[in-house]
Amino acid sequence: MTSATAARTGASASASDRVSTVRLDTERLSIVQLGPEAAAQVVAYYRSNAHHLAPWEPRRPEDFFTHDYWRASLARQLDDATAGRALRLWLVARGDDHGPVLGNVGVTSIERGPLLACRLGYSLAEARQGQGLMYEALQAVIAHVFGAMALHRIEAGHLPENTRSARLLRRLGFQPFGYSRDYLHIAGSWRDHVHNALTNPAPVTP
Ligand SMILES: CC(C)(COP(=O)(O)OP(=O)(O)OC[C@H]1O[C@@H](n2cnc3c(N)ncnc32)[C@H](O)[C@@H]1OP(=O)(O)O)[C@@H](O)C(=O)NCCC(=O)NCCS
Repeated sequence: MTSATAARTGASASASDRVSTVRLDTERLSIVQLGPEAAAQVVAYYRSNAHHLAPWEPRRPEDFFTHDYWRASLARQLDDATAGRALRLWLVARGDDHGPVLGNVGVTSIERGPLLACRLGYSLAEARQGQGLMYEALQAVIAHVFGAMALHRIEAGHLPENTRSARLLRRLGFQPFGYSRDYLHIAGSWRDHVHNALTNPAPVTP
């Protein structure tokens, strides 16, 4: 299980902080990195939410719902975080690191240099929707991305009909900046996407 450091939400940090293990605690959630030993928790999340998530996500490989797949994926996720490529986080009830996974947040395509940007993705268990949990989680993750990770811009896209996701992004302050036809292969076909972005209110320099 993750040996976690304290949350660094909103603080600026050196390069070494960017690769340390991340743990963000909010009022109701712990947002943590999980290692290969947590494969069963993640498999349970995806198995019980397969129907709920299918319309919004890429088609999954055949072994996606297996422990082997997730043991390897979770190990790779830790490597990606250490290398500064991506930060994949998992939502559990506050302090219940070994309990059910409630959702996930991915900070991916991290690009430093003059862009200092990343992409944001997320999903929440079907039964946990409508309680403001993802809003709470993303507020903490955004503070971490703009603080400890010292990035300048976060981009997040959604299918035009994903009104829940659109509302969430608006509430967080994301602004739409574009629309692409046939942009992502979701649920088996090329789908249009609305692009949104949020810029760090604090000045950061590459
Ligand atoms: C997108 C998704 C994460 C949104 O979940 P959500 O629970 O609606 O998101 P929020 O955390 O913003 O919660 C908002 C809801 O909680 C309610 N709520 C209750 N207490 C709240 C609080 N303290 N703060 C904010 N909202 C609260 C809001 O009224 C709103 O309900 P409504 O949509 O019925 O009006 C979820 O629907 C999901 O995982 N969908 C499938 C995967 C997906 O679409 N991923 C994104 C791809 S772009």
